[in-house]
Amino acid sequence: LILQDVYSNSIINCQLRENCLEEEVKKSEFPDGFLFGTSTSAYQIEGGYIEDGKSLSNWDVYSHTNGSIKNGGNGDIADDHYHRYLEDIDIMESLGVNAYRFSISWSRVLPNGSSGPMNPIGIKFYNNIIDNLLHKGITPFVTIHHNDYPQELEERYGAWLSPFMQEEFVYFASTCFKNFGNRVKYWATINEPNLVSELAYMKGIFPPVHCSPPFGKCSYGNSDIEPLLVVHNSILAHAKAVKIYRDQFQVEQRGMIGMVASAYMYKPMTDDEVDKKAATRALTFHVAWLLDPLVHGDYPIEMRHYHGRKLPRFSYKEKLLIKKSMDFIGINHYSTLFVKDCLHSNCTCMHENNPTCSHGENRAILGFLLTSGQNEDGEFIGDPMGMPGLYVVPQGMEDIIDYIRKRYNNMPIFVTENGYGSNDNQEGGYDLDKDINRIKFHKAYLTSLARSIRNGANVRGYFIWSLMDNLEWNFGYTIKFGLYYVHPLTLDRSPKLSAHWYHDFLINNIQEK
Ligand code: NOJ
Repeated sequence: LILQDVYSNSIINCQLRENCLEEEVKKSEFPDGFLFGTSTSAYQIEGGYIEDGKSLSNWDVYSHTNGSIKNGGNGDIADDHYHRYLEDIDIMESLGVNAYRFSISWSRVLPNGSSGPMNPIGIKFYNNIIDNLLHKGITPFVTIHHNDYPQELEERYGAWLSPFMQEEFVYFASTCFKNFGNRVKYWATINEPNLVSELAYMKGIFPPVHCSPPFGKCSYGNSDIEPLLVVHNSILAHAKAVKIYRDQFQVEQRGMIGMVASAYMYKPMTDDEVDKKAATRALTFHVAWLLDPLVHGDYPIEMRHYHGRKLPRFSYKEKLLIKKSMDFIGINHYSTLFVKDCLHSNCTCMHENNPTCSHGENRAILGFLLTSGQNEDGEFIGDPMGMPGLYVVPQGMEDIIDYIRKRYNNMPIFVTENGYGSNDNQEGGYDLDKDINRIKFHKAYLTSLARSIRNGANVRGYFIWSLMDNLEWNFGYTIKFGLYYVHPLTLDRSPKLSAHWYHDFLINNIQEK
């Protein structure tokens, strides 16, 4: 009730101003049983980084290395969700969501990977979360692996560069199915390997900081091959875990299992044919790179054509294993970018000092193209968010869903993440009125999503990133995606105006107004 009052009052205030809030999207435009939730991940919110038997993860070690994360941030305490999870579940109940997507900390559950014992306190922590969610009528949607793994696996095998990591992941996933699967009906195996491979093995801004010139602060690596290898191992790890789930658990547990892809939308920067082709290529090299093998059984032919022998091959048996290895596709969609062709002209970054430009450049791995939020006249594709490289382009939601729906035979899709990253630094508390951009963002993206559903897309859920402000990886706490503000000193959570809006959308907006 309190949530509702604040929002309605501010809406009235808002409506006095011109064009303050445009279209009013309604929950009734979405199908029955649609999951509306919020999304988080373990390292970004939990804290408790060496508590109760947890070992150090790759991110613990990375964040403790000087200069890795903005303002010296780390996840040692983060939002202290490890101790405050009950309060956070209460918050979700008050929001009115019917689902919550979170991830399992690998190093909390299996501190030494497959070569050591399972940590019963870690298991209990996630059991408590799952039980309390179910008690409140909130469906758990579990990501098994979201960026953090035991550092030991890095040191022993080189983690995702090694095929041994496939077996480690299968062991971890099976541990999750065994311990949580009687209550978890939605599993996402791995979060965004198609983006993480780029950030960790090409740009060197995620651990293990691999890359090669001209990219950033690198220790070593081979940016032409390593990102391809990392995605290859992730695809096989996923498919092997899915096989175990289907053979041993699914019949009894009756859940769905899928993968989560980073899914930007791309638009040609100019009307030139080469740029139009480049925009298509960007989708192929970014999205289809990961999803084609999992649906159709192999990489897109264009990638084979451009990469040749650098792109790993699946054996005949592996092709059978990976094909149709998802019950649903999860997409994290935030933004649309312009694409310029670099195959026919030798392009360098046009806006050298513009951080948005670091996104593409003339690298084989991305399809010989350049991506940017601005075109050659300096015009933005949409309003820039506070997070560098992200722009508000609501139509992109419908477009990316349309692309996926057509390419993958309209199989079930969940929008596992969508959110507005701001850089408002409000040390003394959160100014509710400053949150109008986030509300506009979600309304506009939901309107676009509703359109694609009306046109027949098989979308089953939508999760806002994120429940609360949290550690935004290498940006630390400087970028905020939350519906809830987390006070930096007390860690108290306060609803932003967007939390009031989401609540209103979910609870009060059911009937046509
Ligand atoms: C995608 C990632 O899954 C999540 O961890 C991250 O915080 C958001 N995007 C925002 O960048």
